[in-house]
Amino acid sequence: MAFSNKLSESFGKAIEQSPYVALDPIVKYNYSPKGKNLIFGRAPAAEEPSDLLYLGKVFETATGTSLLGADAWLDTKFPHVIYITGTRGSGKSMDLGIIIEGLARLNEPSPVQQNITPVATFLIDTQSQFWTLRFPPQGDASRTQLSELTDWNLQANGLADAAVFVPKGATKFLGDEKELTLRPRDVLHEEWCALLGQEVYGPQGHLLAEILEKLDGEDFSLDDMVRLLREGRLSASVAESSRNVVIYRLTDYSRTGLFDPNGINIQDLLVGGRCNIFMLRDLRDDDKALVTAILARQLFIVMGRYHQQRRVSDFFGKDKPDREFPSRVWLLVDEAHVVCPNSGASPAREALVEYVKRGRDAGLSLVLATQQPSAVDDRVLSQVNLSLSHRLTFQSDINAAIGRIPTKTLSGLRIGGTKLSDFGDILRLVGAGQCFVGDHATSRTILVQMRPRVTAHGGQSPI
Ligand SMILES: Nc1ncnc2c1ncn2[C@@H]1O[C@H](COP(=O)(O)OP(=O)(O)OP(=O)(O)O)[C@@H](O)[C@H]1O
Ligand SMILES: [Mg+2]
Repeated sequence: MAFSNKLSESFGKAIEQSPYVALDPIVKYNYSPKGKNLIFGRAPAAEEPSDLLYLGKVFETATGTSLLGADAWLDTKFPHVIYITGTRGSGKSMDLGIIIEGLARLNEPSPVQQNITPVATFLIDTQSQFWTLRFPPQGDASRTQLSELTDWNLQANGLADAAVFVPKGATKFLGDEKELTLRPRDVLHEEWCALLGQEVYGPQGHLLAEILEKLDGEDFSLDDMVRLLREGRLSASVAESSRNVVIYRLTDYSRTGLFDPNGINIQDLLVGGRCNIFMLRDLRDDDKALVTAILARQLFIVMGRYHQQRRVSDFFGKDKPDREFPSRVWLLVDEAHVVCPNSGASPAREALVEYVKRGRDAGLSLVLATQQPSAVDDRVLSQVNLSLSHRLTFQSDINAAIGRIPTKTLSGLRIGGTKLSDFGDILRLVGAGQCFVGDHATSRTILVQMRPRVTAHGGQSPI
């Protein structure tokens, strides 16, 4: 079972035939023909396969060598920036679940993990649907999933350590949800300005800069900020009306309960095998972006410092850092166009750009999923090294998605008696749960049927 060198020990016979015949040969790929294992995201074939998570099976035959039915794996050792695109209901959230199941600690050992050292994962759950990761599939809605698992030779499972965070006031239906509050000290000046709708270099921006300077190093609250403004002992000479704008906006925020001087401390969430799920559906889009910004930046700071200390102590033979963290961290964002849009102000953009540009040394991976590939920030997307492309219909989205596939797209596909030679037309055709996987190490995108989830999926349409 699992990553095997013997053909007989595969993941069932779920995929034995496919209507899709790819017309381009695959000239370069990371493959072990004996066990029919295809690895994405890693350049040279490893002798002892490790740190691999199971994605699914190749779902195309080809005119040259056919990989149909081969097991597709994702390397988790190298920090990735993964872009998942597709229309509604095409399987994006399912993919996020599949990735987390491969990275987190599970209740029972599972062949979907091949020598994985469980890492810490952080999931921005904009639809509040991923709490189900904790549980095996159950109920009427899961009947199909359970029979698919049998076909794939997989057992139902659950995450062993999944913390669910909800904003203050949100309904707690699991009972042990943690309240999500942010520390005002973690919000940067330009983020306050974006959040309160003020110009960084305008009078209000100036006031905010001065307040933050005065409170620097303290665990302050929004009330402390308002108090400083009311006391009027700030040097910036701004009109009363400008000052009031900031006071009103901060007071409004104070009522949302999103901020607390004792809010979440990222270091406490960095536990190997733990999945931290942030269920943000009840928040405004700006606040979803702010939560993402703070997480991304704190992860970047804490993990960057940690790996730097490790490298230095290793080099000089000194003691290891006082506090141990998992060496790798994944941040996954569903509905990425909401928190990291291409246009308009978003507090998350700068933080995510820095995370992807400089996060490799800090062991940081990012996964972005979106229905609107043309609406996600270009600077973040320029770092994508692996893509999962599901069905798309609008030409503008197709163009944007294709532009971010880090390898060649398929130039021809035969289905039945019809030959398609436009990749956009090919993308319009694939079914839910099927996607083209593209990475630097493979000479062209390959069609994969993603495996069923071993934990419950919370994104079904109502029955
Ligand atoms: N790997 C898979 N195996 C089997 N069925 C799948 C798979 N992926 C997706 N599906 C089917 O497609 C449905 C929708 O999947 P999912 O919730 O992941 O879509 P989505 O792309 O996230 O949609 P939205 O953009 O609306 O959030 C699932 O409920 C399931 O029925
Ligand atoms: Mg979804």
